[in-house]
Amino acid sequence: MERPAPLNGYLKGNAVSTTPQHGARSRYDAEIRSTLQNIAQNSITTSLSQRFQEDTDRAARYSADVGPLFVDYSKQHIDKDILATLCTLARDTGVPEQFAALRAGAHLNNTEDRATNYPSLRRWAVDGKSSDHAINEMYSSMAKLVAAVHSGELTGATGKAFTDVVNIGIGGSDFGPRLVCDALANQGDGILNAHFAANIDPSVITEILATVPAETTLFIVASKSFGTQETRSNANAARAWLSSTLNCKNVDQHFVAVTSKPSAAKNFGIKEELILCTPEWVGGRFSLWSSFGLAVALCFGMDNFRAILQGGHAIDLHVEHTPLEDNVPVILGLLDVWYRNAWGISSQAVLPYEHHLKLLPIYLQQLFMESAGKSVSRDGEVLKYGTGGVIWGTEGTNGQHSFHQLLHQGSDTIPCDFIASLRSYNPVGEQHQNLIANCFSQSLVLMQGQSAADIKQTLINNGTGPEEATQLAQHKAMLGNRPSTTILMRQLDASALGALIALYEYRLFTASFVWGINPFDQWGVELGKQISQTLMGALSGDDVSSLDSSTAQLIARYQEAQKT
Ligand code: F6P
Repeated sequence: MERPAPLNGYLKGNAVSTTPQHGARSRYDAEIRSTLQNIAQNSITTSLSQRFQEDTDRAARYSADVGPLFVDYSKQHIDKDILATLCTLARDTGVPEQFAALRAGAHLNNTEDRATNYPSLRRWAVDGKSSDHAINEMYSSMAKLVAAVHSGELTGATGKAFTDVVNIGIGGSDFGPRLVCDALANQGDGILNAHFAANIDPSVITEILATVPAETTLFIVASKSFGTQETRSNANAARAWLSSTLNCKNVDQHFVAVTSKPSAAKNFGIKEELILCTPEWVGGRFSLWSSFGLAVALCFGMDNFRAILQGGHAIDLHVEHTPLEDNVPVILGLLDVWYRNAWGISSQAVLPYEHHLKLLPIYLQQLFMESAGKSVSRDGEVLKYGTGGVIWGTEGTNGQHSFHQLLHQGSDTIPCDFIASLRSYNPVGEQHQNLIANCFSQSLVLMQGQSAADIKQTLINNGTGPEEATQLAQHKAMLGNRPSTTILMRQLDASALGALIALYEYRLFTASFVWGINPFDQWGVELGKQISQTLMGALSGDDVSSLDSSTAQLIARYQEAQKT
């Protein structure tokens, strides 16, 4: 049986002096870590298959309906004692209090002094109003703009109704609406056609502009800061293209902005009445819930946008009112801590068996890796334990013909999330049933594996000689005991998607609060942005003598290539 890596630094202790948790963390260091350590060492002696044999209720015990989702985590290395210890850990590190603080609008994003009250955005969709004026303002301007576009009140420069929307934004100003528009396209054509331009690579905007009709295309310039180089460059390119294609200087009504910096959008040339303001505290990677979902509302209607928020709200209710021991997003977050810090696992695969969730792994990459890619505590203390790991994956069954070999027989254990919808919008013969069969069989095989002895016997029974059978069996043997969670939805719709995204957010918050990090900031991306400005100058001929010889050499190659 596979052994987890030795318990690492988290369990060696590191007091994090965050106010309400300080004492708890000391207790954690003193007492709970040894319990966790013991449980981890014991848990390796019980395989997942054994756990199922010993507990016939296991599947029901470790699964639950959560809003429109069904989550089965029974194929995880979990039992009563592990769960109890992990929940104690959550309590001792103040997870419930931090969820309450989040809902109360506390500034949990301490390095930027910002609130993180995402549930309040989702609640608006249920109540139809918010106690926060800025939230009401944001959604009512959004709804007005959407109605004006759909009714033809707002048209392009030549008076024709819009048919296409290009969302120009990057990172959190792109991944969310892009994921949702792709997911909802499952249900048929949208009201408007959606396009997304993120990368500064000129091929991206060039290729989009080559396909959209100039007269009837609306551009959303989506940027919280309105200072992002990629977004401003792509927006400038779109504006220049539109002016020259329509042979008209005033193309203002083709550009709307979504931003927390309305004055910067205005300076950029966006008309004041076409600027949607988002409260400053809404973080980029959590901004799908806000007016940054404009592309979704334009292409699939305000009702679908609200349904996403309502799906997320169902998870808010679950998290708020369910004891930790049954609180599914919390348990998933605690499992992430468990694997990261007790098993030494730093990779997690997300495997949607639903073509229209193919962008989910990319979305979750930003959500988890920009949030939990931290190595200091909220108070800036260097942590001695591992935090966020690598999130990756692709749609099934494509991945089965690519990296699943490593999931099954590679030297590392990689926990997997399988996500599937039980009904297809595009049924063709038995294809969807086949897809689901593949999905369920992958998690089964990861868990059960197959021993060399069984394989050898089968080979011998089928006529292979004993020596060859022994040899071949070594290669064919599958260790099994590899954990996974399966998340099912009846059919992929806006509500299920909203619930899925909120589930992952709470999972991330849970792990982050246990680790004592701030999941809401992203200082690590700033330096790269600054240096790229310096290198813009160097590529144009500025002095490179202060640069390292590798970078100077690469710059020289670029300059040389421009000459021919
Ligand atoms: O990549 C860093 C980041 O700040 C993300 O957090 C954000 O989603 C993205 O850039 C885009 O920023 P903005 O919306 O300000 O253009």
